[in-house]
Amino acid sequence: MTDKPKRVRTAVFPAAGLGTRFLPATKAQPKEMLPIVDKPLIQYAVEECAASGIENIIIVTGRGKNAIEDHFDQAPELERFLRDKGDTARADLVRDIGAKIHFSYTRQRDPLGLGHAVLVARELVGDEPFAVLLGDVICDGPKPATRALCDVYEETGIGAIAVEPVPRELIHLYGIVDARPATERKWGERLRQILDLVEKPDAEKAPSNLSVTGRYVLPPEIFDHLEKTKPGRGGEIQLTDGLRALAREQGLWALITEGKTYDAGDKLGFLKATVEFALKNPEFGDEFRAYLKAMEF
Ligand code: UTP
Repeated sequence: MTDKPKRVRTAVFPAAGLGTRFLPATKAQPKEMLPIVDKPLIQYAVEECAASGIENIIIVTGRGKNAIEDHFDQAPELERFLRDKGDTARADLVRDIGAKIHFSYTRQRDPLGLGHAVLVARELVGDEPFAVLLGDVICDGPKPATRALCDVYEETGIGAIAVEPVPRELIHLYGIVDARPATERKWGERLRQILDLVEKPDAEKAPSNLSVTGRYVLPPEIFDHLEKTKPGRGGEIQLTDGLRALAREQGLWALITEGKTYDAGDKLGFLKATVEFALKNPEFGDEFRAYLKAMEF
């Protein structure tokens, strides 16, 4: 590649899924708006984008997802109410949500899969590399996972997706990569070259224990691959199938990100994230720790 890769400025948030694993909570409210301590899930990923230098976020929504749009919009009445009461801190908090980023929204009319949701954002993304973040996944680490992936793309011009080792008994729940050590040594053992991806394999047949976590930085060519992708498992257009084609055609990195990933779209993952973020809370973390310690199990 002769030209320097473009800087990654845009992120796509596919948020049109039905959240069936979290029913009944998600019957009338978006999964992405379930709070971990005091922030909706999706806000953690938006803050990750802001910390990663992303300027534009495109949220792919569906029916019943209006609360997401409202959350990142201004709330003048609420802000005025708080200011009139002299509660400047909370008024500023309300004002600052989403203030650093430009948001656009588009709709996926039918939930035809994650790959289809990404494809729906094609016109808004244009001919640029972009990040994809699953809004129900929280990545908590020393460096924002999206920034780490942008660094790999901006240096190499090849897309990169975040992976993490998972215990053998959980392999069948995730997309798993078949990868070999990268010839590019800057990231050491953490960077792998993807040979293939497999959706939810049996542990015995899995090519590795590295699961795809829900953070991606992709070149615009992924859209051509998704256009050609036929519906797979469950009649859905799988992002994994587009990624496999991309990996074959122009390569794709897997980056083992530092820190911890919570799949908070799953009840147990949600509870783990809640407890860990509550323990870290400066206001009541110590009290919460003492409460947990005093509990009899
Ligand atoms: P998930 O499978 O985790 O989400 O999809 P889901 O379909 O909402 O939830 P369950 O499995 O029924 O509990 C991963 C991401 O892809 C989005 C979801 O919103 C989620 O962020 N997605 C999925 C779409 O935007 N459109 C789809 O058609 C499918």
